[in-house]
Amino acid sequence: METINIKPNQLKLGGSYDKLFEWGKYPKPFEFNDEVAKVFDNMVSRSVPLYHEVNHSLVEWAYYYCQGGGKVYDIGCSTGTTLLALAQQIKEKTKFVGIDTSSSMLDQAREKLAKIPKQHDLQLLCENALSVDYSEATMVIMNYTLQFIEVIHRRTLLEKVFAGLEKGGVLFLSEKVRSKVPQIQEMLTRSYENFKFHRGYSVNEIERKKEALDQVLVPLSMEEQMTLISEVGFSACEPIMRWNNFVTYVAIK
Ligand SMILES: C[S@@+](CC[C@H](N)C(=O)[O-])C[C@H]1O[C@@H](n2cnc3c(N)ncnc32)[C@H](O)[C@@H]1O
Repeated sequence: METINIKPNQLKLGGSYDKLFEWGKYPKPFEFNDEVAKVFDNMVSRSVPLYHEVNHSLVEWAYYYCQGGGKVYDIGCSTGTTLLALAQQIKEKTKFVGIDTSSSMLDQAREKLAKIPKQHDLQLLCENALSVDYSEATMVIMNYTLQFIEVIHRRTLLEKVFAGLEKGGVLFLSEKVRSKVPQIQEMLTRSYENFKFHRGYSVNEIERKKEALDQVLVPLSMEEQMTLISEVGFSACEPIMRWNNFVTYVAIK
């Protein structure tokens, strides 16, 4: 049996402690600007349940799917945490393409990825995911990014990803979801707010960020997402991880 050796706490997370929503001025509506980029690693690890576990699982999928090399796209790569973890584990020459609309995020990513192993190619594109060509993709990663794309454009993006993936290629997708059942949705929200509270965010910070994200981060239900994935043509799609209102899926072309 072949095993890979990456521990969740090996993720290279930098940045300052996130206190952005505590005081007077904060990004409202929420945007991935310079201030957010500087605290993003801390923000994401304290705001996204299972963040480390998802990245660990992703590295495993990439390790097995990219044997013999390949082309991996990370849509919404932010500060490059995922790309770095992948580049350090995959031995074969691989082409990594990180895509993000935020130049502030890509500045952080460039710094973090400056020392990736030499055998790999790396390209960081400051572009809208909707205008990128995903041809020859072995794997496309979209962690917590589709939820920020206008709902009417999500199908088009998934169609583009599907068209670009090689047959047998994999989409690794993580999203915040909502329940269509009001009582369940209420409990999902409560649990999530508790999660953040226990990671050092005050009630005030939680409320302000929620206001800022309203209409910016728009979650779909798990059923809606799986229908969309199957309708664009993926032959299989399964949720491989879930924490209340956060789900990770893999879909195979
Ligand atoms: C929550 S972050 C993603 C986190 C990252 N994937 C991770 O796991 O650490 C969402 C990212 O998507 C980017 N983004 C939002 N809309 C985008 C679009 N239309 N095209 C490309 N990137 C986009 C944002 O700038 C932001 O960096």
